[in-house]
Amino acid sequence: MADRQLIELTVNGAVHEILTEPRRTLLDVLRQDVGLTGAHAGCEHGVCGTCTILVDGEPVRACLMFAVQAEDHDIRTVESLERDGQLSDLQQEFSAHHGLQCGFCTPGFLMLAEGFLAQRPDADRGEIREAVSANLCRCTGYQTIVDAVTATARRRREAAPSTEDSGKEEAS
Ligand code: FES
Ligand code: FES
Repeated sequence: MADRQLIELTVNGAVHEILTEPRRTLLDVLRQDVGLTGAHAGCEHGVCGTCTILVDGEPVRACLMFAVQAEDHDIRTVESLERDGQLSDLQQEFSAHHGLQCGFCTPGFLMLAEGFLAQRPDADRGEIREAVSANLCRCTGYQTIVDAVTATARRRREAAPSTEDSGKEEAS
């Protein structure tokens, strides 16, 4: 057996010590060693995106990254979205807009959208459509996924204090 290496992974804010062979993917280590099975193994060669997670806020295909490369990075999986038994706003909109059918692709779309909206909170529907086209879904036809992400973007914008309001707060 190849030499194994002790690594520390920070996943959803918790540190995990893992003894692993360097050839293993981050996806396999997350699912088999950390016990987080939300990121799914689909094509396992970078095409479908169902394994998408966030690494330092960037959507990354976990099947294309070795676990040893993820040391010293902040990893977020789909399990981080739900808090205290409450679905996140994005998950709620996927539910409300029927953004899933079989659900196999859903963890990847959620994390892809989460990373995209964090970077592009003002994205319009066309930009969201282009962003989610990075991942594959066999069931939905994509429209309901675009609807869900667009609704989340709108909801977050409505919930955020306007620039005018925050300017007033800073001035007061
Ligand atoms: Fe990683 Fe398909 S399982 S891209
Ligand atoms: Fe089935 Fe997307 S909901 S693959």
